[in-house]
Amino acid sequence: MMNNKNNLSFFTVSFRTLKNNIMLSEKIEQLLQDQVKKEASSSQTYLAMACWADVKGFSGAAQFLYTHSDEERVHMLKLIKFLNERGSQATIPALDSPRKEFDNLKEVFQSILDHEILVTESINNIITVCLEEKDHLTNNFIQWYIAEQMEEEQLARSIIDKLEMIGSDTSSLYLFDRELATANQGA
Ligand code: FEO
Repeated sequence: MMNNKNNLSFFTVSFRTLKNNIMLSEKIEQLLQDQVKKEASSSQTYLAMACWADVKGFSGAAQFLYTHSDEERVHMLKLIKFLNERGSQATIPALDSPRKEFDNLKEVFQSILDHEILVTESINNIITVCLEEKDHLTNNFIQWYIAEQMEEEQLARSIIDKLEMIGSDTSSLYLFDRELATANQGA
């Protein structure tokens, strides 16, 4: 039977091992923190687009964008919780006010696609660093994001394609706007 002193040293060693396993490297912590800001910025950007669509009478697109904004906030929260669970404390970033004027609906979705391509590059970079540092926990966590990015880019591209086909046909645009209301359900 272990005496109290041995018991204590066993727990001290175990705690140290556990702490070393969960702690993030400074580099990965900073990358995840930067990603928190990118997801927060995505959420605010899509919220501003939703407001534009709302006042321009694109109620379907507005609904799509409000939902998309909420989803980006969820992405941000997942990162915040992961940072907090891995021995860090997430910083909530300050953000600039996003763009609020657009020429048309196609420009809105082209901006979304351009933005998401940058986010995908950022996630890819996190994966590269995780592999270099053999941080399998973070790599496993961040895989969800890369799958999500593929879906988001694909959806934005398909919407842009449809808007290009519609062109200046206002009746088709009206019908497509109604479709957009539910276009991101399950995405
Ligand atoms: Fe969560 Fe679309 O970036």
